[in-house]
Amino acid sequence: MAQAAKSAPKGLEGVVAASTAISLVQDDRLIYRGYSIDDLVGHAEYEEVAYLLLNGDLPDRSQLRDFKAELVRHRPLSPFVRDLLAEMSEHATAMDVLRTAASALSAEDPEQGDNSQAAEYRKSIRLTAKLPTMLAAYIRRRRGEQPIPQEPSLGHAANFAHMTWGEKPHPRAAEIMNAAFILQAEHGMNASTFTARVVAGTEADMHAAVAAAFAALKGPLHGGATDGTMRLLDEIGTPEHVEAFVDRAIERKYKFSGFGHRVYLTADPRAKHLRRFASELARDRQGPRYFEIQEALVRAIAERRPKMSPAAAAKVNVVNVDYYAATTYTYLGIPADLGTSIFALGRIAGWCAHIMEQHGDNRLIRPESEYTGPTGKTWVPIAER
Ligand SMILES: CC(C)(COP(=O)(O)OP(=O)(O)OC[C@H]1O[C@@H](n2cnc3c(N)ncnc32)[C@H](O)[C@@H]1OP(=O)(O)O)[C@@H](O)C(=O)NCCC(=O)NCCS
Repeated sequence: MAQAAKSAPKGLEGVVAASTAISLVQDDRLIYRGYSIDDLVGHAEYEEVAYLLLNGDLPDRSQLRDFKAELVRHRPLSPFVRDLLAEMSEHATAMDVLRTAASALSAEDPEQGDNSQAAEYRKSIRLTAKLPTMLAAYIRRRRGEQPIPQEPSLGHAANFAHMTWGEKPHPRAAEIMNAAFILQAEHGMNASTFTARVVAGTEADMHAAVAAAFAALKGPLHGGATDGTMRLLDEIGTPEHVEAFVDRAIERKYKFSGFGHRVYLTADPRAKHLRRFASELARDRQGPRYFEIQEALVRAIAERRPKMSPAAAAKVNVVNVDYYAATTYTYLGIPADLGTSIFALGRIAGWCAHIMEQHGDNRLIRPESEYTGPTGKTWVPIAER
């Protein structure tokens, strides 16, 4: 007789779904291949972190030079992808455009169908290199501007800024964008990475898995919370409206974007860095007082935790990565609805590393379900139903 399956907790909370050597996610602690993000964020270039995630250790000088050269070589888009972007960018959202374009890259990939580690490493570089070019083209298209070529002398983050705004970014802006990309590069078994591994587990190729990861990242409970945070701040409008907004929100059990995490119970270790950037960029800013609203919102929610259910009070105790990433990117000039897509520019390295890890030691990921419907029904001819 078949053994009855033991049901996993809802949302697979606490379930260890895979072994990985890529990152460690523990309360208030995030480690990429042995290095704390606190160390990486102050020192590394995004390219070094992408290399670390894909290869297992930091590059030496010549490895980094070669890796960067490959990224630069693969930044330009083919006429096929340029045309696709131009057609789609008129109406579709950035996440839909990026997901579709990333998927379309498979059509022209010289190693399509080859899931070997060497081929996937090269695919990872091509994907990492092309995503910023695609998003910059999308942003320019929305402004009625043509895409512009890359500046090969610029690093990953600075070149993205250059291709978006048509000028070399302020060095501090480039530094902050680079740091934000690093903080968002990898995060264990988050929903989009898990999705990518499930798809890779069927032995589907890297582009299929990345397209699926994009689909998962879009949701407001995952990366979509970056855009959700900006909508929330715009809805509140000014710091003076925060308290009344929170009172009403608690009554209707509203979920505040940018608050709560499945794994982090006391602090998301990425948030403190992004808060620092948002605070710095907010100084001397005209326009909506987003950072002030954020600070007032954190205080107002903390004061009202006793009015919430114990579970909700525990969740809102943690400000997550999306909360201050949203304002950091907005202050850097990224339109408020594009925070989630720029998140993907950082996360692509983590996704690709996990797809390679999955393919490197693959077994189909195929859990069971607990059936809660009826059994024993018998067929009724349609005339009698
Ligand atoms: C991140 C998140 C999806 C984690 O969810 P989870 O671990 O499955 O927790 P649940 O959704 O089961 O929430 C448990 C309780 O906390 C509440 N809660 C969770 N996040 C909340 C939030 N951001 N604001 C208010 N209440 C929240 C839920 O309503 C639920 O309350 P209840 O038990 O009274 O019904 C959740 O906190 C959330 O939706 N946050 C907002 C979206 C977000 O910022 N996502 C990005 C994550 S990096």
